[in-house]
Amino acid sequence: MTTAVDTGTWTVTEEGWDPLRANYFETVFTVGNGRLGTRGSLEERHTGALPGTFLAGVYDAYDSPVIDLVNAPDWLTTEVYVDGLLLDPLAATVASHRRSLDLRTGVLSRDTVFMVANDARVRIRTERFASMANRDLTALRLEVTPLDRPADITVRTGIDGDRKNLERLPAYPDGTTFPHDLKWDKWARSTHFHCEETGFVGETGHLVCRTIDSDIQIAYVCDVGVDTTPARRRQVRRHDYVGVEVDFDVDAGVSVTLDKLVGIATSRDPGESGAPLSRASNTLLRTADFETAQASSSAAWAQLWADSDCEIVGDERAALALRFGIYHLLIAANPDDPTVNIGAKSLSGEGYRGHVFWDTEIMMLPFYMFTQPKTARALLGYRHHTLPGARKVSSDNETRGARYPWESADTGLEECPLFTPDGLNRFYTRDEELHVTADVAYAIVRYADITGDVDYLYGEGAEILFETARYWVDRCESDDDALALRTVMGPDEFHSHVDDNAFTNRMVQWHLERAVAVHSAMTAERPRALADLEQRIGVTADDAAAWADSARRIVAPTDPDCGVIEQFDGYFDRAVVPVTEWDANDMPRYPKGYNHFNCEDTSLLKQPDVVMLMFLLPDDYSLATRRANYEFYEPRTLHKSSLSPSIHAIVGLQVGDASKAERYFARSAFVDLDDNQGNTEEGMHIASAGGTWQVATHGFGGFLASSDGLHFSPSLPQSWQRLRFSVHWRGRKIRADLGHDDASFELIGAGPAETITVWDRSVSLSPGRLQTVGKTERT
Ligand code: BGC
Repeated sequence: MTTAVDTGTWTVTEEGWDPLRANYFETVFTVGNGRLGTRGSLEERHTGALPGTFLAGVYDAYDSPVIDLVNAPDWLTTEVYVDGLLLDPLAATVASHRRSLDLRTGVLSRDTVFMVANDARVRIRTERFASMANRDLTALRLEVTPLDRPADITVRTGIDGDRKNLERLPAYPDGTTFPHDLKWDKWARSTHFHCEETGFVGETGHLVCRTIDSDIQIAYVCDVGVDTTPARRRQVRRHDYVGVEVDFDVDAGVSVTLDKLVGIATSRDPGESGAPLSRASNTLLRTADFETAQASSSAAWAQLWADSDCEIVGDERAALALRFGIYHLLIAANPDDPTVNIGAKSLSGEGYRGHVFWDTEIMMLPFYMFTQPKTARALLGYRHHTLPGARKVSSDNETRGARYPWESADTGLEECPLFTPDGLNRFYTRDEELHVTADVAYAIVRYADITGDVDYLYGEGAEILFETARYWVDRCESDDDALALRTVMGPDEFHSHVDDNAFTNRMVQWHLERAVAVHSAMTAERPRALADLEQRIGVTADDAAAWADSARRIVAPTDPDCGVIEQFDGYFDRAVVPVTEWDANDMPRYPKGYNHFNCEDTSLLKQPDVVMLMFLLPDDYSLATRRANYEFYEPRTLHKSSLSPSIHAIVGLQVGDASKAERYFARSAFVDLDDNQGNTEEGMHIASAGGTWQVATHGFGGFLASSDGLHFSPSLPQSWQRLRFSVHWRGRKIRADLGHDDASFELIGAGPAETITVWDRSVSLSPGRLQTVGKTERT
């Protein structure tokens, strides 16, 4: 089986052509820049291919029951013909095939040798990237070499506007199976855009299309340069395709090279005016050539890695997996667009239709807050941008204020489907996973704390905190003096319609308490900003009093003597069904007779719930309570969400149970590289990449940013020699180099010394000076 092989800690490589693994590599080899992502399909595609380019924020609901992140025009599409024969894995024999993704520069390189008639070999090499320096630019270089004899080569390359989204697999009789290469052909598809115009200005081709429901105009402009005078060059134009066809007579051993540069713009790009077509054309006018574009993109990547790298020394596979996740996090988000967010499969596939969940705030945001604060700010900007939608979700449910949807797309309205595609099972997540609103509040407060960005907190942040706090006041039900939250679902999606879910109640209480604190801080420190908010959203001191009252009365888990917090009212009465089998990836199997939809009556968990609460609010619970809850809930958890293993690794380490941490880390880190959930072909498990970074830094690195500052208490796996990463903290950066027995730190950025805590001892860091601490030394 072809799989991603190890080639050091910066490169993911595919060796050999295996059609069964091709969809997996399409996801793994996604290139992107946060504004767009393009799956790693072969340029010529293959039978069974699942190509896709996704533009952040470009959604459309036409022709599909649920809104989709649009599978946009394909800028890669390229076919090479040798003496009339199309070089693709079906028509020609693949003699060798190797692709590698350079995580450091975001360039995907390919080297394929095809065997054509009469045993003559032809080599194709390509390089592609989405520019990190100019997010409106993508580039492809193609080199063709007939290795054994002269050949007539024709290359056709352009922009393909004939794209549709996968909709659903129609119902076939039970037991029907399809050959792998026909699998996707059996799916119904949805059309989301129409092409409006194709054409050329000189040698430059363009394709303009428009999404049908959301009315977004998208323009692609494409230049193709060749290094050899072709025998013939033609422009090709159909209503949904624009490109060129170039013929060459090439001698054996001689290469011809084509450079394709593509500018992309849409009418939804924030802060931009002017027609997308002219903006996309300008992008190309400003781009000298492939080399220059690649050099500036690589320079931008170098800057990103300088802030975001997390290096494991001593375990190359783990190091590669961690960097692979960071690479995908870096191509998933755009610091310059505060109107978009990261879907559960990032921009790497159609899974979850590009919808945004709590995954961003809880699993991914820590990575951005500590390494790319501007990107974190942009991601939070999306929640402000979609606040009008959240207000509508609340008013539709006859409550005031704002409630974030469980699945969000472009407007902040609820986009979670009502039923599974077969119509057999209802999704209650949309009605009941209310906690997402408190999770957004949690992220806002954490962001402000970590970055020190009080302007944000007292501006957009406060508006969200206050509007959402109002929602909770109305949503809570009075039970004498106590307030209850009934008919909810916590993070554990095996249990719906439950009352007083501990996670939800405590997070809501925390949210209300913070809203009160921010209101009172603004009263004292920012009266004008508060007056402005009062005017805009009508918030008053009475509101703040109501939040405080609800926070006091809400039923919330305390620190009980028995230690274990009941996940929800009645959880302890649910049947105990032991987990007895694990799969090859060491993941628990469903006990016999159980599946996703029938665990309600059992105490089995899909993913952490009480343990998640302890992960988010560790200071609220004593070590003994956290340990007791981890020990109680961990064996009941099936990890049927990729968000689960990383949280168990961290909490396990925090409570002193390191026995499973490495296994949980591996499950999280390799979820896509090893395809350990079996569905990487649908897109990356991007939340897991965020969780993996957190296990490395917060788990093994023992890093914690709490109200009294930064703590490091490394406890590395035996095979790791060092763990190195940087964190941004209130405008400055701290570089950490952690070992088993010593740790070094460097404070970067002007200002006073900073005191941190290392292995429970205070250490003062002066800017620019390396400070080394021994684990056992006394200070
Ligand atoms: C998990 C959710 C998660 C969603 C998207 C579900 O399977 O249970 O917690 O938000 O996937 O990743």
